[in-house]
Amino acid sequence: TVRRTPLIAGNWKMNLDHLQAIAFVQKLAWGLADAKHDVASVEVAVFPPFTDLRSVQTLVAADKLPIAFGAQDLSEHDSGAYTGEISGAFLSALDCSYVLIGHSERRTLHGESDEQVSGKVRAALRHNLVPIICVGETSDDLEKHGPSAVPVAQLKAALSGITSTVDIVVAYEPVWAIGSGQAATPEQAEQVAAALRAVLVDTLGEDVAQKTRILYGGSVKSSNIAGFMREPNVDGALVGGASLDLNEFTSIVRYQK
Ligand code: G3P
Repeated sequence: TVRRTPLIAGNWKMNLDHLQAIAFVQKLAWGLADAKHDVASVEVAVFPPFTDLRSVQTLVAADKLPIAFGAQDLSEHDSGAYTGEISGAFLSALDCSYVLIGHSERRTLHGESDEQVSGKVRAALRHNLVPIICVGETSDDLEKHGPSAVPVAQLKAALSGITSTVDIVVAYEPVWAIGSGQAATPEQAEQVAAALRAVLVDTLGEDVAQKTRILYGGSVKSSNIAGFMREPNVDGALVGGASLDLNEFTSIVRYQK
């Protein structure tokens, strides 16, 4: 079996301006360097607002910090008359490694469709960004269709037209677990993650499917992270609220302890 490097990602959402971001990332780096055991085997990434990215890039490069970063969204277009949009080209130029795509807040609050999500995935890949494709069901979906149907359909749609790439990450975030304090159980997360990996096998082939990391997101905290990480198909976490708390986020990264 392939060993997948765990990824712990912090989605800051609309929190922390660029000055706060610099202070936070610097302290996070100190906290991680201070670790009493090996955290080098876990990849850590932060997702600040667009306006913070230049500052984060400068700090990470100057101090060679072992922290990856990315944006919370991008445009499906590369340039042109799209007022207020951000091109993947700009994110690449800022050394972003990743970009979140199709977060439930984008889908719900901004009406992002599966087609747009798939356009954004292709835009990310055009600009050498690793898309973190977010999928997840509402509690209504769960009642009507069971646990995996909606996330599976969303992932299939997001991957339409893509035949083979190693460079994607999938994040399973049940909408009912986001910001609710009510996380899924590790068993629930595993069940859906396994279904999502089966989609990856079908669409991208066994090799890519085995290399692709699938994250769980939704009320992850230091007290429940270890349970998720024990599941064979869960390769990390996408953390919202707890990623804004230095101690919590550092403890999540050090989940092995
Ligand atoms: O993208 C991460 C997020 O949606 C989960 O949020 O606050 O439940 O960890 P939270």
